[in-house]
Amino acid sequence: MITPSAAFVEVVANMRRILAEEAAATGDADLALFLRPLEHLTKEANASFSPDKGAKLPVCRYLAGALDAAPSGKARELASGLRRLEPFLNFVQNPNYRRAPPTGSFLTDYGYAVLAGPDDGAPALVSAPSIAFGILLLGPHTEYPAHHHPAAELYVPLGPADWAKGSATRSEARSADASAADWVRREPGCVIHHRPNVVHATRTHETPLAALYLWAGDLATYARLAD
Ligand SMILES: [Fe+2]
Repeated sequence: MITPSAAFVEVVANMRRILAEEAAATGDADLALFLRPLEHLTKEANASFSPDKGAKLPVCRYLAGALDAAPSGKARELASGLRRLEPFLNFVQNPNYRRAPPTGSFLTDYGYAVLAGPDDGAPALVSAPSIAFGILLLGPHTEYPAHHHPAAELYVPLGPADWAKGSATRSEARSADASAADWVRREPGCVIHHRPNVVHATRTHETPLAALYLWAGDLATYARLAD
């Protein structure tokens, strides 16, 4: 019997291993920003979680399929831990998008749940003052349009999807044609790094997407769609 807290620690440990391998392979020193706080989270072996009893967002119907899409190796190991955490996850939505959805169907096909984050943010399984760690969920045939935020961000997708990365400042973003960004198919288990305020976007095809994310830096400012 694996407890939820053991599954949480397993997911954190697998994430740390993926980032450490990426840091060693690429020499990207910025990854240390994320690795140090994750180290603290591996000590949460006796944390207690309560099953989420609230109304589920529509996008939750895609969670099992998105986790099943993890093919093998690192992505599959992450998905295995997340499957055991599923009853405890509280999926929410960015209030900026709830106020002004980018498309008519976006809010039925988008949500995220926080595994670890600050106490004054969205409900988290584990309190973490200096990092936000969670799971983004998108339905099939969904585009999460160009957006930006001041936090530095890493994604590890569990399934295949297209990703785009644009310019590094808001003023540059305004002059860039975000809709014409170059989409790149990224494979499950890879590390995608968005520096602060970089405009980025994600789109799915037939398969729903679950992607683990990490935020460091300004954790209090929600993402906004690019102008
Ligand atoms: Fe982001």
